[in-house]
Amino acid sequence: MYNIKEITKDLFWVGANDRRISLFESAYPVPCGVSYNSYLLTDDKTVLLDTVDKSVNHQFFENIEYALDGRGLDYLVINHMEPDHCAEIASLVKKYPQMKIVCNAKSQSMVNQFFNFNFPENQWQIVKEGDTLETGNYTLSFYMAPMVHWPEVMVTYDSVDKILFSADAFGAFGAIDGNIFADEVDFDHRYMDEARRYYTNIVGKYGPQVQMLLKKASNLDIQMICPLHGYVWRKDLNVFIDKYQKWSAYEPEEKSVLVAYSSVYGNTQNAAEILAGKLAKLGVKNIRMFDVSTVHPSYVVSEVFRYSHIVFASTTYNMDIFVSMEILLNDLCAHNIQNRKVAIIENGSWAPSCGNLITEKVSKWKNTEIIGNRILVKSSLKRNQEEELENLAKEIVSTM
Ligand code: FEO
Repeated sequence: MYNIKEITKDLFWVGANDRRISLFESAYPVPCGVSYNSYLLTDDKTVLLDTVDKSVNHQFFENIEYALDGRGLDYLVINHMEPDHCAEIASLVKKYPQMKIVCNAKSQSMVNQFFNFNFPENQWQIVKEGDTLETGNYTLSFYMAPMVHWPEVMVTYDSVDKILFSADAFGAFGAIDGNIFADEVDFDHRYMDEARRYYTNIVGKYGPQVQMLLKKASNLDIQMICPLHGYVWRKDLNVFIDKYQKWSAYEPEEKSVLVAYSSVYGNTQNAAEILAGKLAKLGVKNIRMFDVSTVHPSYVVSEVFRYSHIVFASTTYNMDIFVSMEILLNDLCAHNIQNRKVAIIENGSWAPSCGNLITEKVSKWKNTEIIGNRILVKSSLKRNQEEELENLAKEIVSTM
């Protein structure tokens, strides 16, 4: 049975939700599921914008068939060739062999990499920056957005209804729960954290490229954003665009302290907790603490993008950084995190070494300063170290 959603009189969401998926991209937990958005424009010509993941193909084809209402499909626009959006291209070609594929040259090569069908030369419409497609009452223009999040990504702009089909940009984890528009749900409380976790983990590495896209988009009159995951935006677009400005510039949203610790027997945790308590006493609000061994790194990465000051407290393990902390730090390095103030607590019973190793990693972050004197816990914190913690807390506060 079909499940389509009307966006405008001529535009329909024909995507689908997956609430059974445990790990998106085999990497990220999605406890609230994920939506794969595909849009169908039913003008004089019919145009499908992107397909979906193969896990939801049945729903997708029922939706298209219903929304087409007996008509054929004239065009498929490919904005992004990652398989969570392109998986159904081959099946679509089989079902609608007369359609044209509108994409850029990079996407065309990727279609040939991912699939094995032969598609007639004259049914490819290869587009470049600013090219347009007339569909009758609407004109679609195409703008390249390389590395947001793959090199072939482009976005599509409908200049009549002023809609930006933004590919992965402005997406969020979380299935679409009945409503389709972000203003119909409590986005700030229910979805903003998941939008941040989606952005930081999926696209976070490519801040400068996202900034370029935002610059291009600022020249367009955009009244609606249709991303490939999550809700459609038609009100207060600036709220979300401002978030993207901050995230892509690696600018913290919260002037406060995130304490990430890994602790085998609780002694490193104890030092982290005492420091956090001292920070609170000095007036720091909204302190966040994570045991990085029990929280998936994608959540911590997302919050590190949010916070201005980060404390890493780790035990030494096999002469190295404790495993879960090392995974987090590597993840942060891979995501190009920068522009932060960092303090370090290390623990080691006979040869503490993780402090230097953490310093080495953090030193590679741009515009990042390691502040205060590193605290060394030898097995457990001693009473006479209270002053050291006090001083570190004061040093952190003095840089806020
Ligand atoms: Fe949702 Fe880069 O794919």
